[in-house]
Amino acid sequence: MSDNGLFPIIAQIPKAELHVHIEGTLEPEMMLHKASKNGIALPYKTVDDVRKAYRFSDLQSFLDLYYLGVNSIVDRNDYYDLAMAYFRKASSQNVRRAEVFFDPQAHTRRGIDFSTVINGLHDAAVDAQDRYGISIGLIMSFLRDLPEESAMRTMEEALQYKKWIIGVGLDSKELGNPPEKFANVFKRARNEGFLAVAHAGEEGPAEYVWSSIKLLKVSRIDHGYHIFEDSDLVRYVSVNQIPVTMCPLASVSVNYFKRVGDMPLKKALDNGIIFSINSDDPSYFGGYINENYIAVRKTFNMSKTELIKLARFSIISSFMNDHMKQKLLEEIDMW
Ligand code: ADE
Ligand code: ZN
Repeated sequence: MSDNGLFPIIAQIPKAELHVHIEGTLEPEMMLHKASKNGIALPYKTVDDVRKAYRFSDLQSFLDLYYLGVNSIVDRNDYYDLAMAYFRKASSQNVRRAEVFFDPQAHTRRGIDFSTVINGLHDAAVDAQDRYGISIGLIMSFLRDLPEESAMRTMEEALQYKKWIIGVGLDSKELGNPPEKFANVFKRARNEGFLAVAHAGEEGPAEYVWSSIKLLKVSRIDHGYHIFEDSDLVRYVSVNQIPVTMCPLASVSVNYFKRVGDMPLKKALDNGIIFSINSDDPSYFGGYINENYIAVRKTFNMSKTELIKLARFSIISSFMNDHMKQKLLEEIDMW
């Protein structure tokens, strides 16, 4: 089938987005508007200025801009607007389930209360579920370039909002910040009933994936590109059906791969690994979830059956209960 023939399927098929940072959905228009409202100084005057800065040589050069941009988000209403804009966009792309990261420390370290962040995000999640019928889970991510004590304090603060947060994650600068650094806080989080995921094997080696699985006991791996350097790990992830969340446009934007075609996506398929397609930080990386599916479809010349398989994988990889998964899988099977 032609590309044009398959794009409507991508647009319309129900899917889950499992790797998106709410801070990475901040569009330049909102960044500038909120900065001006809140009296925050940014080195950009126009939307074009912001977009021109979106050239990254590596993960850190992206993170520098990401943390700068998020300074413009300050009050509960800002968090609401940020999240609502993403939920609206995701729903328009037929995302039925979104498991969304937020980075509390990116806010609390500049003096914003945890309660402001979580209340704004939760308000938006409630309204979006109501308005769009999308199911939402919030995942609190620890910044791995900060000490474990900071993550532990964040965890303690989060406990009173436990019912609004489904799990914990680990993000920011991976190299030099191995999972071992966070063994205690992940243990505490799991004991409190949080699910666990971690960015691993994004820029770090396969060993970071091993320790995320064995030590942090994560239920899902975010990115995981370096898994394929270790055949024992490939087998382990496949046999144990540990889902991997991949982000095609992101991984090219931060220079992990020259082109989407260099991603180990076929290797994952061939080895029976369950993986999903996600946007990561869509405002910064040139597209939301459907643009990522389209890039994959074009690059790997995927058939309708393969696209349906990817949508099914996204549902299977999610933290929804079995009943919700089954309902969505049945809808997908009508395709
Ligand atoms: N924070 C936001 N996006 C990230 C990514 N892709 N890797 C690590 N930390 C992040
Ligand atoms: Zn990410």
